[in-house]
Amino acid sequence: MNQLVSVTWHDNAVHVLDQRLLPHQEVVNAYTSVAGVADSIRTMQVRGAPAIGCTAAYGMALVAVRTAASTPADLMPALHDAQRVLDASRPTAVNLFWATARMMAYATRVQHLPLGDFRAAMLAEAQAVFAEDLAMCQAIGRHGEPLIPARGRVLTHCNAGGLATAGYGTALGPIYRAHEIGRAIHVYVDETRPYLQGARLTAFELQRGGVPLTLITDNMAAYFMGQGLVDCIIVGADRIAANGDVANKIGTYGLAVLAHAHGIPMYVAAPTSTIDRKISDGSLIPIEERSSDEVTTIQGIRIAPEGVTAAHPAFDVTPAKYITAIICEKGVVRAPYGPGLAAVC
Ligand code: MRU
Repeated sequence: MNQLVSVTWHDNAVHVLDQRLLPHQEVVNAYTSVAGVADSIRTMQVRGAPAIGCTAAYGMALVAVRTAASTPADLMPALHDAQRVLDASRPTAVNLFWATARMMAYATRVQHLPLGDFRAAMLAEAQAVFAEDLAMCQAIGRHGEPLIPARGRVLTHCNAGGLATAGYGTALGPIYRAHEIGRAIHVYVDETRPYLQGARLTAFELQRGGVPLTLITDNMAAYFMGQGLVDCIIVGADRIAANGDVANKIGTYGLAVLAHAHGIPMYVAAPTSTIDRKISDGSLIPIEERSSDEVTTIQGIRIAPEGVTAAHPAFDVTPAKYITAIICEKGVVRAPYGPGLAAVC
């Protein structure tokens, strides 16, 4: 599949595809400082929980590779600082904190190595984070594909595709898999106001992959469900609490309630790096509040009267009771989610 890659490493720099400019321009920005990498996450050049995690892992490698030091022990304070800076970039997707903690723990384990080997090991670990994410998405695709009914019409929200991950995607994984094995499927893509990840990114990558799709505005979802035109919903996740409550893009909760009312299965697809077992339920998940301007303007053009401010919670929490199953790289987890998630983590 001809997919764009959200983040890559070469020439001792982190290269980020600027998703703010898609689908019209494909621009890649190179970062050689951890502040730059954190900024690329904060400003949503790179977004989507697993892609943020991969980018942060490369940010940690950048510090190890580029910071002057005479021993790995000298590098540890800079790595701690980098973890703090990266962790402050966005609050909701747990993959970010998971990735920086993994890199920090690895640095601690290998700090006995000679400096050159330490630097190489840190880069290899970041590359492993990326490679494992791609493999997890492909496994999610294999586990999730059989859940899509014959000639299935699947509704998705936001972008949980190749652009939001190391490639292939979480919610789009089962869809790509079904398409690859020749099944007839159709995808309804929510445009996903206010940031339009559905219209700009999901529609773009599905079209590029040759997957049939129809773009709808978010407020059309109930209509299509009521008409019997949606067989299942598959969305991604930014954080899954120990009890199965799921934080995902604002609007997901509404879709889940609608799915419940119409008897339509609601699936969440996410790697185990998105599960936060330290958080008992969804009420404890921090919800990012983004700029009012992202609601009152569309791509720089003001649509609300001057002086009007808007609320902009970027995520909501869907209670586990509305989720039919969680698809992860290890298989399909169903309620009760407490023991089910504990078994796959
Ligand atoms: O604000 P975003 O674009 O980073 O939000 C992304 C989502 O909500 C995705 O559904 C989620 O991160 C899963 S991506 C595989």
